[in-house]
Amino acid sequence: MEETAKKNESRIVLALDFPFQNPEKRGDLLIKAQNILEIVHPYICAVKINHHLVLPLGVFDGVLHLVNRIHDKGLLAIMDCKANDIGSTNQVIAEYYFAVGFDALIANPFVGWEEGLEPIFGAAQRLNRGVILLTYMSHKGAKEGYGQTICDVRTGVKTAQYVSFAKKALRWNADGVVVGATHPEKIREIHDILKDKVPIYSPGIGAQGGVAEVALEAGARYLIVGREITLAENPVAKIEEMKSVTRYAD
Ligand code: XMP
Repeated sequence: MEETAKKNESRIVLALDFPFQNPEKRGDLLIKAQNILEIVHPYICAVKINHHLVLPLGVFDGVLHLVNRIHDKGLLAIMDCKANDIGSTNQVIAEYYFAVGFDALIANPFVGWEEGLEPIFGAAQRLNRGVILLTYMSHKGAKEGYGQTICDVRTGVKTAQYVSFAKKALRWNADGVVVGATHPEKIREIHDILKDKVPIYSPGIGAQGGVAEVALEAGARYLIVGREITLAENPVAKIEEMKSVTRYAD
């Protein structure tokens, strides 16, 4: 990530998301995705794909084609599947997405390590890929889960759920964490725990109300940006507008 971010002087991870499309016309989505990739690839450091494209295009059809294009452009491909199941299923999820060529996937630490995320980290390590953990999501309801206070029944010590997840990211050797740009105070608190050992990826810029400058200032290293770019009349102009803030410099 760092190499690509430096090369393209950009901290922007493009979320390749488009609104729901009549399934009969789903082929149009592949064309839209390719077109946008073609014009913005010099100004971003990675591309994030999720259900927006996996469901209509299929993993070994359209998505495989896109991952190859993303790599041809010298960018990394992140699968935002928010893996969240029992270990045996998580293993299958990870193996398929890594087989398609994704460089990293996003997983949910709520399911825990043993018989939870352990097989994903195992597959990632074996195949030299990354795992990025949700730590505090960008939407308002995040406080109901990630914002809960948890209590250790043995010691009585109380901790915020997201603080516990940030510490797990360190312990599990995660390659990144996701913290919503809509909660800059959480970014700061999580950055204080992770320092520069685990980079913070921050979604929620623009459409969800987060501000790039504020998220970066609080400690985010990469910004995940979707609709602000994919729905812009001129995506390159939109990126240019953000450039003075999102430029990657040492
Ligand atoms: P927009 O259009 O709001 O899209 O820029 C954001 C993209 O990021 C995803 N998203 C998240 N992904 N944790 C994640 O892993 C989050 O807290 C989060 N919030 C938004 C969203 O699915 C979309 O692809």
